Amino acid sequence: PSILVVQGPNLNLLGTREPEVYGKTTLEDIHQKLGQLANSHSVNLDTYQSNHEGELIDRIQKAKQESVDFIIINPGAFTHTSVALRDVLAGVAIPFIEVHLSNIHQREEFRKHSYLSDIATGVICGLGALGYELAMTAAIARIQK
Ligand code: DQA
Repeated sequence: PSILVVQGPNLNLLGTREPEVYGKTTLEDIHQKLGQLANSHSVNLDTYQSNHEGELIDRIQKAKQESVDFIIINPGAFTHTSVALRDVLAGVAIPFIEVHLSNIHQREEFRKHSYLSDIATGVICGLGALGYELAMTAAIARIQK
């Protein structure tokens, strides 16, 4: 079984980017932790980050060809703007969990709407880096049942 973690724009800056909002953990730290979790459950993990909408879409299309079982995605700001990202996730029909480090409902009005949430298996927000681990645990449970 395999899981793909997709990270959208500016998440490569984690650790230094608005640490009061997003925490001090780096993306590498997060991916390392997720790798350990995957390993201990004999699940293959691939991680991907891009600042470009089209590249994120290409990666998700490729996941279909690779028969990826589950996607964990933090779409960053594309959460609130991208019909194309919604369409590709619906198109490949790979179940996914949407993760946000911050509580998007506690912030600016424009962050309250997500183009993905209503087609997601689940949504986790406001729990910082731990949210990815929780999503990973849920994804592993789903694909192993
Ligand atoms: C984010 C929330 C988005 O609104 C923002 O644009 C991000 C990060 C989060 O993880 O809290 O880039 O997805």
